[in-house]
Amino acid sequence: MAPRPRSNLLITVSALLLVLFLVALTFHLMMTQRAPALYASGEVQAAIDLLLKVLGSLLLLLFLYVVFSRLARRDQPPSSTSAIDAYQYVVQLLREKEQELERLRSVAEQRAQEVESYNEDILRSVSSGVITFSRDGVVTTFNDAAASIFRLEREAAIDKTCAEVFGTRSTVAGLLERALTHGDVITREEFELEMPQGARIWVGVSTSLLKDRSGGLIGATFVCTDLTEIRALQEQVKLRERMMVLGEMSAGIAHEFRNLMGTILGAAKLIARQLPSGSPAQDSVRTISHVISDMDHLITQFLNFARKTEPDLRPVALEPWLKRVVEQVLEQTPAPHPRVETICFPDVSAVRIDEILMRQALGNLVQNAVEAMPGGGDLTVTASVRAMRGRRREVEVRVGDTGCGIPPDRLPKIFLPFYTTRPKGTGLGLALVHKIVLLHNGRIEVDSQENKGTTFRIYLPVA
Ligand SMILES: Nc1ncnc2c1ncn2[C@@H]1O[C@H](COP(=O)(O)OP(=O)(O)OP(=O)(O)O)[C@@H](O)[C@H]1O
Ligand SMILES: [Mg+2]
Repeated sequence: MAPRPRSNLLITVSALLLVLFLVALTFHLMMTQRAPALYASGEVQAAIDLLLKVLGSLLLLLFLYVVFSRLARRDQPPSSTSAIDAYQYVVQLLREKEQELERLRSVAEQRAQEVESYNEDILRSVSSGVITFSRDGVVTTFNDAAASIFRLEREAAIDKTCAEVFGTRSTVAGLLERALTHGDVITREEFELEMPQGARIWVGVSTSLLKDRSGGLIGATFVCTDLTEIRALQEQVKLRERMMVLGEMSAGIAHEFRNLMGTILGAAKLIARQLPSGSPAQDSVRTISHVISDMDHLITQFLNFARKTEPDLRPVALEPWLKRVVEQVLEQTPAPHPRVETICFPDVSAVRIDEILMRQALGNLVQNAVEAMPGGGDLTVTASVRAMRGRRREVEVRVGDTGCGIPPDRLPKIFLPFYTTRPKGTGLGLALVHKIVLLHNGRIEVDSQENKGTTFRIYLPVA
């Protein structure tokens, strides 16, 4: 680019001033050294001093002018008339702006990512289940705790509708409908849920509405707590209390009965001795004796059931113990015997149980299974360890048969004392099993299909 006229003039003037200043300075120095007498006269020295000051000031002013004009020009478009220069300048400016925008965008993106992963960390860390639904009922958030509470994988819930995940008629669908349609929210309601996959769970739920900045409804949030285990424990405590009261009351009555029956039996034996042999009344007296001893057996069983017992917990190696119990039951059962399979998975270590009480419980389950397969079948007894997410470890003992099964309407009654469908049964077997399992702080579940078979599962806590 050719130098501009104004800058040429400036250079010439500056050079001229500099030469003048240097000449004046040289003259001043020479005169001071060579002709100090002449110079000391004062007038010449004052004139030279003045000249030096004027020239110095002009040079300084010029220097300042150049510096400031450079600075001022840096942020201005060149006043050059060249279109190419102007174009290049604009392109340069645009490039700089674009780079700045790019930098700002990546900073914003990074910040958004940080906020998102922070939110995800919070959701992953909270122990409560958090579910959010969009305005049209689609699951948009389903944290790890929710997956564990509802026994579902996160992927099975996210982006699905509430009806698909929880069922159309479920309580969750009802609560969501109330929230989205009427704006109703609830604080910690407890209810039992039957999941479409079959699991039954107790949950505590609080709901809230999700709104955008302008206050428009955009969805709903559910915060859930798993109450299944607490409920089961509460039920167990209630049942145990009820059974204790019932047991104490009826044990007293049974004891009295036994005394009275002893008197009747004694009198019947006396009558039998006094009757002439061959008398037809002998048969009636024998019937009385049989009935009394049946009743005595029943009452002994009942007193066993009602007795207050503290389990004596000791570690027991499960595998040999299971096999022994099954063998003992089969030894006392008439043929045909079912095919038996006893499996104890390797991760089952010694469990702390009251060996005598548990033998009674398992023996009763095996006895019932054998009785359900009068023509033979398959009896499977297994023991394994379960470690459900968020729950304590427990040993599961299963007794499965391929017998007659239990109709659904009878299932709720089978653990009740004296409920039996067998002509010679007392109906105390399963009630006793239940009591023993509760004494071990465990629980018992049953699955049955008519004419296909039944499986009882005992869960015992692992210490
Ligand atoms: N494995 C099973 N298969 C089919 N039905 C069963 C099974 N186990 C129990 N039941 C049903 O539950 C009822 C109650 O069982 P429970 O063991 O309490 O009494 P019971 O076997 O009838 O009498 P008891 O045990 O005193 O001999 C049984 O009469 C039977 O109808
Ligand atoms: Mg029984």
